[in-house]
Amino acid sequence: MIVLVGFMGAGKSSVGRLLAARLGLPFADSDLVIEERCGSRVPEIFAEYGEAGFRVVEHEVIDELLRGPDAVLAVGGGAVEHRATWRLLRAARVIYLQVTYEEALQRVGGDAGRPLLQRPDLQDIYRRRLPAYQSVATLTIATGGRPAEAVCREVVSRLAPEPDLPPGPQAGYAR
Ligand code: S3P
Repeated sequence: MIVLVGFMGAGKSSVGRLLAARLGLPFADSDLVIEERCGSRVPEIFAEYGEAGFRVVEHEVIDELLRGPDAVLAVGGGAVEHRATWRLLRAARVIYLQVTYEEALQRVGGDAGRPLLQRPDLQDIYRRRLPAYQSVATLTIATGGRPAEAVCREVVSRLAPEPDLPPGPQAGYAR
């Protein structure tokens, strides 16, 4: 199981889809599973049950997905803020896709499907989450304005085990 975390707009879904295809694994997005389960879209769930209600369902869904068949799993940008979900993520193989605040806003700006974008304290939320993402990460990738394909390539290269190096000359052997 490979989990992708990071702020909204980091590219979790787009990189996740590419990575899954590349590794021959199914791709899952916790937000989509939550929407299917609740029969409503994320903003409606926030409006009806509040962020706290959303986080409870999110926890259940991520817990189930992590116990399920091997996959590449993208989780919502706020999943790390729920203590019990954070614990689950901490025990998983997690790739953290880093994105600057400015770039995240450029990518998702004006998306009505993301209720958090309405929050006046969004930048504080961003800052507060950075250490949480880092604390669950087994691998951190700076996405730095690159397209998803390039980020996916870097993930694949850094996931691969180091190739065995051929035995070289022994240090200190020749006199
Ligand atoms: C959220 C991010 C969203 C979604 C929900 C809340 C957040 O997922 O889970 O709108 O708190 O950052 P993405 O990170 O995939 O946009």
